[in-house]
Amino acid sequence: MSEEVKLNLGAIEAVMQLPPAPVVLLAVGGDEPNVTTIGMFNVFSVDPTIVGIGIKSSRFSYKLLEESDDFSLNVPGRDLLEHVVKCGKHSGSRLNKFSEVGLTPKPGSRIRSPTIAECPLALEVKKLENIDRGDWDHIWYMGKVVHADIDKDYDRSNVLLYWDGEFWTPEMVQGKE
Ligand SMILES: Cc1cc2nc3c(=O)[nH]c(=O)nc-3n(C[C@H](O)[C@H](O)[C@H](O)COP(=O)(O)O)c2cc1C
Repeated sequence: MSEEVKLNLGAIEAVMQLPPAPVVLLAVGGDEPNVTTIGMFNVFSVDPTIVGIGIKSSRFSYKLLEESDDFSLNVPGRDLLEHVVKCGKHSGSRLNKFSEVGLTPKPGSRIRSPTIAECPLALEVKKLENIDRGDWDHIWYMGKVVHADIDKDYDRSNVLLYWDGEFWTPEMVQGKE
């Protein structure tokens, strides 16, 4: 019998072997909102429902997150791939991404920041706290989901994942247990 060989792996290479969280579009800001592509998304508590996003301080959205009490996280389908790429490439410090990229801000039900009309699922989030360690490359903003709406025909196998430079969609392997 051949002996199983385990290879040593760096920390980030090890993490990259796992599938990522879904890509979301962050919309933040009251009067002049901005939209940005985010891959660092996590659920921190189920009840109450607390979600968080990681953002670099160099982003224009970081400034808006600091100034705002809330934000929305909008889940795009694969049909919005081009929009997702553009929102993740250009900075709102130089252009109005909503109009340039072709997305429609929709007034939030419970927050000042808008949601995105074209996205089939939108979470409205009230900011609770952030983790800014100084020596981490992302600052985490966590907040409570205070409202959510979803398209009637929402298809969860259609959400986008961003994995090692490539976009994916999830696929179910087997039915319910
Ligand atoms: C798929 C994808 C995921 C991204 N995820 C993040 C992220 O989680 N955090 C972050 O700070 N930037 C992330 N970015 C980069 C920002 O979206 C990008 O720098 C954007 O231009 C920032 O826009 P802003 O300056 O208007 O905020 C991602 C980009 C792409 C394409």
